[in-house]
Amino acid sequence: MSERTRQPKWLDNAVFYEIYPQSFQDTNADGIGDLEGIIRHLDDIQELGCTAIWLNPCFQSPFGDAGYDVEDYCRVAPRYGTNEDMARLFEESHRRNMHVILDLVPGHTAVTHRWFRESMKAEKNEYTDRYVWTDCVWESPDGMGCIRGISDRDGSCAVNFFSHQPALNYGFYKPDKPWQQSFDDPGPQATLEAMKDVMRFWLKMGCDGFRVDMAGSLVKNDEEGKGTIRLWQNVRAFLDEEFPDAAMVSEWGEPDKSLQGGFHMDFLLQFGPSHYMDLFRCEEPFFSSRGKGNIAEFVHTYQKNYEKSERKGLICIPSGNHDMARLARKLQGDELKIAFAFLLSMPGAPFIYYGDEIGMRYVEGLTSVEGGYERTGSRSPMQWDDSVNAGFSHAPKECLYIQQDAAADRPTLKAQKQDPDSLYHEIQKLIQIRMAHPALQSKGDIAYVYAEENAYPLAYVRSSEEEKILVVINPAARTVEFPYDGQIGEVLYQFGRGLSSDGKKIIIQGQSAVFVKIS
Ligand code: NOJ
Ligand code: CA
Repeated sequence: MSERTRQPKWLDNAVFYEIYPQSFQDTNADGIGDLEGIIRHLDDIQELGCTAIWLNPCFQSPFGDAGYDVEDYCRVAPRYGTNEDMARLFEESHRRNMHVILDLVPGHTAVTHRWFRESMKAEKNEYTDRYVWTDCVWESPDGMGCIRGISDRDGSCAVNFFSHQPALNYGFYKPDKPWQQSFDDPGPQATLEAMKDVMRFWLKMGCDGFRVDMAGSLVKNDEEGKGTIRLWQNVRAFLDEEFPDAAMVSEWGEPDKSLQGGFHMDFLLQFGPSHYMDLFRCEEPFFSSRGKGNIAEFVHTYQKNYEKSERKGLICIPSGNHDMARLARKLQGDELKIAFAFLLSMPGAPFIYYGDEIGMRYVEGLTSVEGGYERTGSRSPMQWDDSVNAGFSHAPKECLYIQQDAAADRPTLKAQKQDPDSLYHEIQKLIQIRMAHPALQSKGDIAYVYAEENAYPLAYVRSSEEEKILVVINPAARTVEFPYDGQIGEVLYQFGRGLSSDGKKIIIQGQSAVFVKIS
């Protein structure tokens, strides 16, 4: 597929806000966030400047993996509300010109899903081939974990992630065992059609698209991704036909592949080859003021992906997500502001993880909740204000979904709104500047000007037909310089003491970020 996938127009300047529904706002005092809570805060999200929401799974589930173990794809989990509440969330968002994408989990279900209960039966039925089964309980699927010994059916069922998440069957790239099917076989085709029905269901209700969980691993034994790309091209044809405005973003981490598959956007992830972790989360992150980081490999990989993906879609850099440590675990104060100057001036649609806009901390030492394990500390309830439970819930403290940051100085939205120098206001300002300059938005070009091995600053030019903007980012506490002999013009954004130019080089002060027009 060489031609470019048509992009919904609203992605051009979209800024996403990721909401982990159980931790956002509880409105019925059961200690767990709900859809009504999200609806009540839409104005806050809009005030920050975000234009779209990615909602983590909120479907009926036994919650062994916080909802990534789906029991009924077409039903909102009662703890979050009803399908009518979801329809209302879509409506209320659209009324504000905002969009909502849901989390689609096509790779596996919960063991309690009706499909799996049917699939476990010894007698053949409609769901026999819905999951990846070997044909003898003593044979395990190689390279994958499995569930066995819990069904009358003689076989082992492959799992996709945790051992309670049986893998849905989309076939094998090159089947070489009798029990392995090909993507074109009736079982895998029926699985894909069932998943299209799920998408249809929510898109018809008003949903604006999906973030797709583990999108790159649906077809098995498919090292180069060719089978899975083909699968997604099939989905692309379906969407083009029925829902051309639905936005699709993949958890894949290899944009050259996912964009070929017809996704509009792919994430840089905490795993895989992107060097994303070098930015904010390794031993010496580039964005630490210690200034001992290395941005070169990140930029090198980014460039390679950018070229390979031929601008078929967007490469999205998240501030964080529900699977990795909070941004504020390694960075503090001005470091966070400079990190956001980068995140909000890069191409692709930025994704802000709820709470990162106020620098919410990773809560250390928590016992795992719903399969979170070390991820639990990044999933604690939103801190709204200085009232009980930081305004998250009226439930007794011990009943909260996850315990909150107990520090007396924990950041809250209310306090940050009142402080003109807060991280919240810096982000708000950065989004406003992005919105005013197409060159800084999703599709503006990027050309790196300075991104050297173990050196500071980072400099790049963003450009559109109208203008060119030089972005210079120096997270290090020391003054640094780089060769630059071009003219510089109006300063559009400055954090810190800023920069100067002598016609041959640019000198930038410690902990500064500057966006300056160059044409
Ligand atoms: C990725 C999701 O983001 C994560 O939270 C989940 O546990 C796994 N996929 C399995 O669905
Ligand atoms: Ca609730």
